[in-house]
Amino acid sequence: MDRKLVRSRLELEGIRLPAFALNPVIEVLTQHESVRGFQSTQLPEAALKSILTAARSAPTSSNLQAYSIIVVRDERRKRRISELSGNQAFICDSPVMLVFCADIYRLKYITERQGHSFKADTLEMFLLASVDAALAMQNALVAAESLRLGAVPVGSVRNHPAEMAEELGLPEGVYALVGLSVGYERKGVRRGGKPRLPERITVHEEQYSAAGLDEDLAAYDAEMISRRTYDGRRVSIAGEPESAELDYGWCEHTARRCTRPETIAASSSLRENLREVLERRGFSLR
Ligand SMILES: Cc1cc2nc3c(=O)[nH]c(=O)nc-3n(C[C@H](O)[C@H](O)[C@H](O)COP(=O)(O)O)c2cc1C
Repeated sequence: MDRKLVRSRLELEGIRLPAFALNPVIEVLTQHESVRGFQSTQLPEAALKSILTAARSAPTSSNLQAYSIIVVRDERRKRRISELSGNQAFICDSPVMLVFCADIYRLKYITERQGHSFKADTLEMFLLASVDAALAMQNALVAAESLRLGAVPVGSVRNHPAEMAEELGLPEGVYALVGLSVGYERKGVRRGGKPRLPERITVHEEQYSAAGLDEDLAAYDAEMISRRTYDGRRVSIAGEPESAELDYGWCEHTARRCTRPETIAASSSLRENLREVLERRGFSLR
């Protein structure tokens, strides 16, 4: 890892805190940056064990532990996952991809094995399992970063849910929610931390407040534009010519992505029939 390019959000935002409010955990969390370029070096088994144990230590709703983690190291399988996930090259480059799945298979299995009938395949159960899987992913990400490894979550594993399930051998009741590519990062892949929306937009005292929203959004747009975040990444609007003068910042980029459901999934017509696929996979979403 190139330490010179690692920036803490505290530093980026000029936040000064007394020593008692700082420690190595806060340091790792505030230095987070998604890394999308990896060396081919394998991860030591002990590092992987440490990451997986951290993932399994995440809090879990009612201790149901409604998630599973698939560890993928096989080159052919990583290639297939990459193909199914928008051909993101870093998936093949990284020595390991962890796929975090929402999992109610085990809950169904034990309910029936214990002689009861399973009635909990509700929308709430799907959410619960998804939150459990996401928390496990985040613990794994932080653990990897604390070991000075690079990592990036991969939501595109949901692009082709049925094919992904087949590739990973997922039984009914298990759904690949998010991947995590982990490895030793390649030199030059860091940009020094992506700015976040101003705190006043996302953190509210006691009750929600949209006061000052436009002003704060304008400040964030200016920052993202000055970093050239969206150069070459504009979302086009069908039938409308692109204006080079337009202030294309987070607001315009995000607004354009929200004009069509599929733009959130980064490419056309993906994830549209998610409900149908999930229902076929055993999540009834009642
Ligand atoms: C659930 C989730 C799914 C994501 N999926 C992808 C992905 O498929 N490809 C990718 O390059 N980045 C992905 N990311 C990374 C985000 O783009 C990244 O976190 C965001 O732009 C903020 O940048 P930062 O993580 O460097 O601070 C994902 C992040 C999350 C939390």
